[in-house]
Amino acid sequence: MKLLVTGGAGYVGSVCAAHLVDAGHDVTVLDDLSTGHADAVPDGAEFVKGDVGEAADDLLADGVDGVLHFAARSLVGESVQRPELYWQGNVVASLRLLEAIRRHGTPRLVFSSTAATYGEPEQVPIREDAPARPTNPYGASKLAIDNMITSYAVAHGLAGVSLRYFNVAGAHGRFGERHVVETHLIPIVLQVASGDRESMQIYGDDWPTPDGTCVRDYIHVDDLAEAHLLALAHAEPGRHAVYNLGSGTGFSVREVVEACRAVTGHPIPTVVAPRRSGDPAVLVASSEAAAAALGWRPTRTDLATIVGDAWRFTQLRHGVGPAGPAQRPSATRTPRATVDLARCPLVSLSTDCGGSPGHGVGHRWSRRLIRGACDAGSDVAPARGAGRRVFSAAVSGAAPARRSGRRAARSGGCPPRRGRAASR
Ligand SMILES: NC(=O)c1ccc[n+]([C@@H]2O[C@H](COP(=O)([O-])OP(=O)(O)OC[C@H]3O[C@@H](n4cnc5c(N)ncnc54)[C@H](O)[C@@H]3O)[C@@H](O)[C@H]2O)c1
Repeated sequence: MKLLVTGGAGYVGSVCAAHLVDAGHDVTVLDDLSTGHADAVPDGAEFVKGDVGEAADDLLADGVDGVLHFAARSLVGESVQRPELYWQGNVVASLRLLEAIRRHGTPRLVFSSTAATYGEPEQVPIREDAPARPTNPYGASKLAIDNMITSYAVAHGLAGVSLRYFNVAGAHGRFGERHVVETHLIPIVLQVASGDRESMQIYGDDWPTPDGTCVRDYIHVDDLAEAHLLALAHAEPGRHAVYNLGSGTGFSVREVVEACRAVTGHPIPTVVAPRRSGDPAVLVASSEAAAAALGWRPTRTDLATIVGDAWRFTQLRHGVGPAGPAQRPSATRTPRATVDLARCPLVSLSTDCGGSPGHGVGHRWSRRLIRGACDAGSDVAPARGAGRRVFSAAVSGAAPARRSGRRAARSGGCPPRRGRAASR
């Protein structure tokens, strides 16, 4: 399938994009790099730098079979202090994406929802029919998007699936968690083991749990990615399905720290701090619905595997440890194409930059990719009608040949910009 992956330069999105490419899909990543990293876009995927709310319309105009929508702001604390960022960046941007989906008849959407839509659970494990009462603007923004998708499915026949993740963890080779502001437990604990922090804080050891620390459900990011592929395959027109995704097992903070000590061999000092308000004692998913409807079964549910994969990724980032085929340093693995849409406004539909006469709107953004490379100073040698393929060869360093003037224009090369530049 031809797929648009928003947020595919982030943690979960990059791993899912890698799985999608491996499964043979034609993947374009759209990401504004606000929290993501260009070198996290997997080989074989095209990369467009831009905002979901602004760029999706043009990308979907080419005819896309489905959207996987990971792009979001997702810091709970920030959402409490600056809710406007979440209503704008999550809700408004997603509404624009849904409008683009409707306008261009994109049939499928798989959306990254969250356990935060439920708030404080009345019952554990949490099922999809539990009351959705988010306790912060982040969770509320995700619930609002879920509700929008339901209405678009009913009114416009969209095949929608929302996947409500619990605590995503682990890594997939060189793809892993690299948040600048890290709030997730396992990477924080591993930062202590790798010397980036002196100790880690445990927020409360007097919770009503077996060892007094909070219990959470950790889902391996590879299991999560597999659920996305299944969701894509099972999405039904006119229906919005919602599935919780967790391993179904809860681990306490102390158990996670112990697992990290065992994997890393580091003592990992801990400091007990007061409870944080709004932290539920136990959050564990019931993933029975996903198992029944999608045939999804998580297989990497033990902490040793989850922490082990995350630790290998951490070591790789620090230049330590073996570099297997999927773990080569990122500098040697460039995405097929990198374009900053902010620097690359809509160019004239003439043939001054890639594509061939007669390809028209269908190749509009192939030309845009090439224009972006030209603006960025890349050597680009596109041939007639092969803009995307040849551009990709050029940015990955294959024998570039600069052309200019009329010859370039005839062959689809990049003469100086001319023609109409439409604002977007
Ligand atoms: N990581 C978890 O444990 C977890 C749990 C539940 C839900 N989720 C959801 O999963 C998704 C991915 O989470 P993650 O941990 O990979 O986060 P992340 O920050 O690593 O990835 C988000 C990506 O989206 C991009 N982005 C953000 N706003 C954008 C916009 N308006 N336009 C284009 N790109 C934009 C960022 O640059 C980043 O690359 C998010 O929607 C998040 O809410 C994550």
